[in-house]
Amino acid sequence: MSRVGIQLTFLVWGLVLVAEISAQQEKNPVLLRGAALYQKHCAACHQADGKGVTRLIPPLVGTDYVSGDKSRLIRILLQGLNEPIVVQEEEYYSPMASFQYLSDIESADVLTYIRTRFGGGASPVSVKEVQQQRKKLPK
Ligand code: HEC
Repeated sequence: MSRVGIQLTFLVWGLVLVAEISAQQEKNPVLLRGAALYQKHCAACHQADGKGVTRLIPPLVGTDYVSGDKSRLIRILLQGLNEPIVVQEEEYYSPMASFQYLSDIESADVLTYIRTRFGGGASPVSVKEVQQQRKKLPK
């Protein structure tokens, strides 16, 4: 087979693989619901691709806030965030409002979605984990 032929074969296999992974994600109800919630509640600021807006809104792609400690991530969603933070060597300090009004399921879905899509496939957030953090919120 010619070099171009070999390269084309790899390209096609690559495309098939990508299509299969996204087809699997599309069938997962948690990720489907999470994607819709993300579009509705988060994308206006963090952008559809999760890359944020330089110097104004921090990215979600590849940040430790998203893929790291789940309790901290859940608290950010339930309480909002209003302190100076450094994300990928850029400083951000503008308030993010709380999303306490989202249900436990909605919160788990949207956080699982961002961990899967932007957090390199980090483990899912369960409804129970959201409930545990909600109980600890200052009344
Ligand atoms: C009105 C704009 C806005 C919306 C809407 C918004 N955020 Fe944020 N978000 C921010 C800002 C601004 C910060 C930085 C807060 C700070 O500096 O203290 C932030 C920080 C974060 C962080 C921690 C830092 C990072 O980049 O990893 C996470 C995680 C996060 N947001 C997730 C979400 C999720 C999930 C949603 C939707 C449910 C959401 N945000 C909706 C503006 C927004």
